[in-house]
Amino acid sequence: MKVTVGVSGGIAAYKAAEVVRALQRQALEVRVVMTASAQQFIQPLTFAALTGHKVITSLWPQHHDRNSYDSDMESSIEHIAEAQWADALVVAPATANILAKFAHGLSDDFLSTMYLATAAPVLVAPAMNTNMWEHPATQANLETLRRRGVRVIEPASGPLACGMVGPGRMAEPELIATAVLNALGRSHDMAGETILLTAGGTREALDPVRFLGNRSSGKMGYAIAEAAQSRGAKVILISGPSALYPPPHVELVRVTTADEMRNAVLARMAEATLVIKAAAVADYRPVNVADQKMKRTGPLTLELVPTEDILAEAVRNRRPGQLIVGFAAETENGVENGRAKLLRKGVDAIVINDVSKPEIGFDSDANAATFLTLTKAIDLPEMPKRKLADRILDEVVALRRPQSLLVELGATQVPSREEKQAAVRRQIIIE
Ligand SMILES: Cc1cc2nc3c(=O)[nH]c(=O)nc-3n(C[C@H](O)[C@H](O)[C@H](O)COP(=O)(O)O)c2cc1C
Repeated sequence: MKVTVGVSGGIAAYKAAEVVRALQRQALEVRVVMTASAQQFIQPLTFAALTGHKVITSLWPQHHDRNSYDSDMESSIEHIAEAQWADALVVAPATANILAKFAHGLSDDFLSTMYLATAAPVLVAPAMNTNMWEHPATQANLETLRRRGVRVIEPASGPLACGMVGPGRMAEPELIATAVLNALGRSHDMAGETILLTAGGTREALDPVRFLGNRSSGKMGYAIAEAAQSRGAKVILISGPSALYPPPHVELVRVTTADEMRNAVLARMAEATLVIKAAAVADYRPVNVADQKMKRTGPLTLELVPTEDILAEAVRNRRPGQLIVGFAAETENGVENGRAKLLRKGVDAIVINDVSKPEIGFDSDANAATFLTLTKAIDLPEMPKRKLADRILDEVVALRRPQSLLVELGATQVPSREEKQAAVRRQIIIE
């Protein structure tokens, strides 16, 4: 979905860059419109670099050659095109001036003209000195806008740039992004869920400096954490070593080894309504870990023992109603191997990653997957990991709807686990 961020000329204009980033983290496409005053505070280049789009800075064509008919025409209707492009317009920060212009229908610059021309939801995040905020003129303008359906993201109270303490500070960027998502109708369909999510790879020490590890970056798991959080879920993210910043408002538990990950999962299982295991956990660990750095003395044979199967243990500890989703990185026969794993482990779904393609999978920003349940294999073609995270969660949310399974199985009552497994076996035989 597409969002236009309008930046007007207040001190908080620098925070608009954070608003853009927060919206992008929600997989929204963002473009920026700046008022002339806003450009006194921050350069359009910042937003152009962040969004990858030209920043609109004026209502008027920016060409020196005023006789260039084509390009002038293109520019002169840009406010209409932008108004139609946007699924939402959010003005952050919104000055007292731009609020007054919106309220009174003035249209002497791009942003105010676009406001009149758009049919999309409009949100404003006011930021100003307390006296300006409390002034009856500003409050009357806000009232007019509210009545018209404009969503006002209330400013916070606190120390302001002008030295006063009071209301007038622009709402936090994350809060603004959440308000935009709500306005876009991206519902909080995971509200009430507590997700125990594992991500990243694990490391098994050989000696104090070396370890056995894998190529997982944690990007897919972190993207799921962010997506689930923005859909209203509480997220406990148990992560192996990763260079990624933890997503905001997510509880991060850092672990290193497969054993630490297992302990962390089992310790938090009881809190979760949903367990998603996106981590790439070591299958083996060395029997002996050297106390000192090993010297090169000739050929070396490592003795390895299997690590605990965390997914199997999670299934054994499953609470009623708790959904468990595993991930399987496959380099060949993904669906067949995934289906076998699904049945063997007794999980509700498996997300199969084909990691044999270098352009997707480990450490890349895009991925493709197959979401496999007992009754279907949903192909999720290549897309950015953050978008894929939302698609995976769409399917997880759908698992909570028993009707879909009833329809598929032609059953009249909720099928038992055995009935579901029998149905899958039939499907395998048919295939
Ligand atoms: C240093 C400075 C800081 C300002 N900060 C704010 C502010 O935080 N909020 C506000 O409503 N106006 C602020 N103003 C006033 C606006 O810049 C002014 O009203 C301008 O006309 C707004 O234009 P615009 O709404 O088209 O961006 C500030 C002005 C200056 C010079």
